Amino acid sequence: MAEFLNGLKRTEYCGRIGKKDLGNPVTLMGWVQSRRDHGGVIFIDLRDLTGIVQVVFNPDVSPEAHRIAHSLKDEYVIAVNGTVKNRPEDSINEKIPTGYFEVMVDSVKILNESDPLPFPIEDEIDAGEPIRLKYRYLDLRRGPMRERLIARHKLMQTTRAFLSGEGFFEIETPFLTRSTPEGARDYLVPSRVNPGKFYALPQSPQLFKQLLMVAGFERYFQIVKCFRDEDLRADRQPEFTQIDIELSFVEAEEVRSLTEALLVEIFDKVRGTHLPQPFPVLTYEEAMRRFGTDKPDLRIPWELSDFTDLAKEVDFKVFRSAAENGGLVKCLNARLCGSLSRKEIDDLLEEIKPYGAKGLAWIKVTENGLQSPITKFLNKGFTEELFKRTGASSGDLLLFQADTPEVVNAALSHLRNHLGKRMLPVSKDDFRPLWVVNFPLLEYDAEEKRYVAMHHPFTAPMAEDIPLLDQEPSKVRAQSYDIVLNGYEIGGGSIRNHSREVQYRMFSLLNISEEEANQKFGFLLEALNFGAPPHGGIALGLDRIAMLLSGGNSIREVIAFPKTQRAVCLLTEAPSEVSPRQLQELYLKLIPPRK
Ligand code: AMO
Ligand code: AMP
Repeated sequence: MAEFLNGLKRTEYCGRIGKKDLGNPVTLMGWVQSRRDHGGVIFIDLRDLTGIVQVVFNPDVSPEAHRIAHSLKDEYVIAVNGTVKNRPEDSINEKIPTGYFEVMVDSVKILNESDPLPFPIEDEIDAGEPIRLKYRYLDLRRGPMRERLIARHKLMQTTRAFLSGEGFFEIETPFLTRSTPEGARDYLVPSRVNPGKFYALPQSPQLFKQLLMVAGFERYFQIVKCFRDEDLRADRQPEFTQIDIELSFVEAEEVRSLTEALLVEIFDKVRGTHLPQPFPVLTYEEAMRRFGTDKPDLRIPWELSDFTDLAKEVDFKVFRSAAENGGLVKCLNARLCGSLSRKEIDDLLEEIKPYGAKGLAWIKVTENGLQSPITKFLNKGFTEELFKRTGASSGDLLLFQADTPEVVNAALSHLRNHLGKRMLPVSKDDFRPLWVVNFPLLEYDAEEKRYVAMHHPFTAPMAEDIPLLDQEPSKVRAQSYDIVLNGYEIGGGSIRNHSREVQYRMFSLLNISEEEANQKFGFLLEALNFGAPPHGGIALGLDRIAMLLSGGNSIREVIAFPKTQRAVCLLTEAPSEVSPRQLQELYLKLIPPRK
């Protein structure tokens, strides 16, 4: 039976019991972590938000409390009155901060009971994620989960303090709004009072923050939920949180140095880790060339080298035909991996098949020369260059891909991550941030046969590339930047088009007619006519930063109530069906999808 407190007041927290309390009476409240019955005396580990303390029920001290203690079970909620004592020498527990003390109980009150638990409330459990998500409120009682959410709180507070200190204003923007194109599908909300019309939940506050710049706020930030209906992964949720920032009268470099200072402050305050500045800056072109990805994990020191030019002159058909047909031939030097067996190398091919790899050519560099099934096809020029370009020395394993640029880069960058993490002492406590800048403005979508914006359509081209907009749009670089940490994109942003002409030009390249642009983004285009200042900004993925700060590899672990990969909340069972009446009010009718 649940009881109210009826005037009972907590005087101290479990985890804070210490020398200062010796000999004093205390009232504690919390959960029964465990009960041990030592024939006569009963010991309870009592837990609250701050930690655990041992409380002792001795029949000689209080027969009534001792009687009640017999009925206590795991996770019962209790209040105890008692006196703080030193533990006897032989029962000191140095592993917990309160381990030298215990509370001798005079009286106890059961505030609530608990059913048997679906999993124990312990730091390490082997319960599967579905059951943890269904009973998330129990999962969150566990120490590591509590620490992650507290770290997330510190991350948010540090961000607010830092940005306010830098003269930024936190301004909210609507959730019930129009579509903001960030490359995902929208979550739509039907409007009851405007039958047949829908709001879109924002994929980001992009357009509103630009409007705030036109409004003259100059420095805006917001810690804000964004909603994207896209394929989910360990680092993607349908609703996630951004630290969203926008500034007026700045260029890319200023946005980057502000972001660096913010990240340095966050890692310092939340984790006591110093991020060395300045962060390295790579162009997109260089990142792709050297690492095969725009989010390289710099904890792995291996790089790719390009052999496409030389591949045209070798007898090896696989290499030559890729090189002659507009593809690439690139090599990853997996340093000191020459000890891998045939079978292990074959397994690497299985690892990259999902990226389209058709084979995996390899060369082992040994003290007695090159060892490989393909050396017989390679000419002297090729093997000489091999050493120069890859810096290979004895013990190294050279892994080759010959294919389209997309397959080559995807396969080799995956191998770099996969093998690097397996073979090298890559630590979760090592943080290697970098900037990747000047992405292409546009990306060709082969399926839709049209260009799409690589960042979003409001990103400005680099001034010197504007003439290329007409001739070679795919060569135009953007004034954009991503911040990458240990292989994760933790943020991205750009300088925006504050010129209406360039913005229209961008829409036309994206195959969006003037009419359609006016219909969808007319409010922004109009605002650009009323003295829009030069502006730009960035959004940081708060969940990903929280995940890296706590050493995890899924953002679900740092979100109090996350959704599954199928966008379901197992706790509330959202999304759910609604009544026919609700549908009717919204002018909606369900049509089952065609088979
Ligand atoms: P972008 O789309 O790059 O930029 O998003 C910024 C950052 O948000 C994080 N992120 C996500 N995190 C979890 N789950 C998701 N589904 C998800 N999608 C994105 C990433 C990403 O780097 N309006 C622009 C920013 C700007 O131009 O200022 C924007 O939203 O860490
Ligand atoms: P094959 O001539 O197809 O038997 O291939 C000879 C070697 O080249 C084998 O080790 C294959 O794994 C490798 N190989 C085949 N296709 C590719 C490719 N596209 N890129 C790199 N290596 C390949």
